[in-house]
Formats: sequence, C-alpha cells, structure tokens
Amino acid sequence: MIETDINTPQTNPKQDTLITIQNLQVHFPVFQGLIIQKIVGAIKAVDGLTFEIKRGETLSLVGESGCGKSTTGRAILQLIRPTVGKVYFEDTDLTTLEPEEIRKIRRRMQIIFQDPYASLNPRMTVGKIIAEPLIVHNLATKKIRAHVEELLELVGLNPQFINRYPHEFSGGQRQRIGIARALAVNPDFIVCDEPIASLDVSIQAQVINLMQSLQKTLGLTYLFIAHDLSVVRHISKRIAVMYLGKIVELAERVDIYENPLHPYTQALLSAVPIPDPELEAKRERILLKDDIPSPINPPKGCRFNTRCPLVVDRCRLEEPEFREVNPGHFVACHLVEESQNRNSNPV
Ligand SMILES: Nc1ncnc2c1ncn2[C@@H]1O[C@H](COP(=O)(O)OP(=O)(O)OP(=O)(O)O)[C@@H](O)[C@H]1O
Ligand SMILES: [Mg+2]
Repeated sequence: MIETDINTPQTNPKQDTLITIQNLQVHFPVFQGLIIQKIVGAIKAVDGLTFEIKRGETLSLVGESGCGKSTTGRAILQLIRPTVGKVYFEDTDLTTLEPEEIRKIRRRMQIIFQDPYASLNPRMTVGKIIAEPLIVHNLATKKIRAHVEELLELVGLNPQFINRYPHEFSGGQRQRIGIARALAVNPDFIVCDEPIASLDVSIQAQVINLMQSLQKTLGLTYLFIAHDLSVVRHISKRIAVMYLGKIVELAERVDIYENPLHPYTQALLSAVPIPDPELEAKRERILLKDDIPSPINPPKGCRFNTRCPLVVDRCRLEEPEFREVNPGHFVACHLVEESQNRNSNPV
C-alpha cells in the first residue's frame, strides 16, 4: 500500500463536498492584426458552470468536441486561470491563490491525459517518469525506488519494468504508467481527461476497472471527461452533460440513462449502442443537424436552439435557467415538462 504521508491535511469527515465550482468562466481572447494585435472578441470556452464534486464520487463530464470539457478540467486545477468564478478545493478558493500556493495544493489534484503516447517523456525511464512528481513536490525519500515499484504493482505492471522506456509499452500499459504517475503524490482528486479514448476497446474496460478499484482502495475523487455516454456508464456516480460552454443537464447516472430530460442528452443517448440486436434495430436515433456552433458567437436564447429537434420560438429568445426539476436532477430547457411526459408515456 502507498503510505499516507504527513502532507495530507486533516479534513472534516462530515464535509462531503471536495470541489465546489461557482459561475466558472474561461474566455480566450481573439486577436486581429499582424503588427499591432487588437482583441476583437472572446472564445467563450466555458461560460458559467456551477456544480459540486462530492468526496469519493466520479462525476463524468460529457459532450461533443470543442464544448469546453478539457478547459473546465484545467481551470479547476488552475492550469488555466479562470476569467470569472470560484473554484473551491474543500474550503480553499483556488482562484485567489498565488502560484506558489497553487503548486503546493496541486499535489492533491492530479490529471491523467487522453494520449498516453504524447503525455510521457520518451527520453525518461518509467521509473524517472513516475518519480518526477515526488521530486517536484519534495516528497522523495531514500525509499523512492521501492515507492515507484509499489506504484507499478498497484497499476498492474511488473515492477521489473522500472528501467524501461515508454516506447517499450503498449497503449494500455502506457496509460497505466500515466495513472501511476498521477498516484505517486497520493492525491485526493484526479481530472481524467478522456483517459481511455485512444485505447482499443478491449483495453478500455481494463483501464476503467483499474481506475474503479484504485478509487475504492485509495478513496479517490474523479472528474471523468468523455465524448459520449457509452464509456461513462459504469464508472459514473453522476453525469454532467455539456454543450457549448454550459452544463445543460446534471443528474445521478440512473436518471441520465433512464429519464434524460434535455433534448441534447436524449440525442447523445440515442447514439449509445444497445447490446441486444433486436432492441438496437428498433430504437430511434436522434441525428443532430450541423456542427456545434462557434463559442465566439453562441446562439441567442438557448444555445442548443439551432440544432434542437423540439425547438419553439421561446428557445430562440430566452435563455433557459439551469434548475433542479427533480431532487438532484438539474436541467436547462424550456421544454422539460414535455420531456418528462414523453419519458413516462413512451409511444
Ligand atoms: N488555449 C486556447 N486558446 C484559444 N482557444 C482555446 C484554447 N483552448 C481551447 N480553446 C477553445 O475553447 C473551446 C473548448 O475547447 P476544449 O479543448 O475545452 O474542448 P473539449 O470539449 O475538451 O474538446 P475535445 O473533446 O475535442 O477535447 C474550443 O473552441 C477550443 O478551440
Ligand atoms: Mg478535450
């Protein structure tokens, strides 16, 4: 087992929320001009998110490419400083911290990236890659080699691989190295940014199983980022569906899969394969027209109105409020009641 080190702060066990996000916004400036550059607009990559991540849970963040998932993950970790909003880690507002204080608290918050090929330095041995965060955070001891071997074992790799280089491993094994590296500093919270997207389907399940068992053993909290609802089914406690910089629906996993209330969630869900071929043949696919609009100039009213199969005039004029329609089930849509009726009386 990994030793719990002395840097782990004492926290109030009653406090069940680890991360609190309030009105998080990340806007990237758009420049024009070759010599004198002027700011002419902003990419509203993340545009007002409010949600919590409970201690020990996996909250999945799902949505199409470009909707702002990675920016959200990075802004929570302060790898990108938010334009507006608050991010609390326990009671600490990370947005007010100086870089040195952030560096210290980052030991407790790690990230696993999508691409296990690009995220590992090809010139470093696996041992050095995993030990690096320990050295950065001044946690290296004389027993560092034993610690790294233990981490390799924990993620299902042979400790004798310690002197090998990343190119000597398969994609799934490299992702295990990325996980071991994130775990080295004994974090509480990990942003998993599409950690299985580049892996073969057969390997995806193994990595998900590993992450789940590590979560149980080490009491980890995950923000798990994915493109679609098929990969997050087994790992999520709750799911947030994101569209063009906003969360449109957030609920317990069972509510998202069995009672989706936003037309965008319904469209994403209709693309999830059903293992039963008979049911698969019968089910209705909701195909969304066009691509996701530009975050520089998002549509007025509801941002989904240009692609929504149920759109009415109100949706083009008035932005829907993100509200709790059932306990723990939040949706931003003017037509929630219609969706609720449709779900309870399917044709
Ligand atoms: N550093 C940056 N500078 C300018 N624009 C950026 C920057 N990073 C991201 N963006 C823009 O912000 C928007 C959201 O990007 P982000 O990477 O968060 O999306 P994503 O949901 O993670 O997409 P994907 O599923 O493809 O990884 C996109 O329009 C992207 O082009
Ligand atoms: Mg991304």
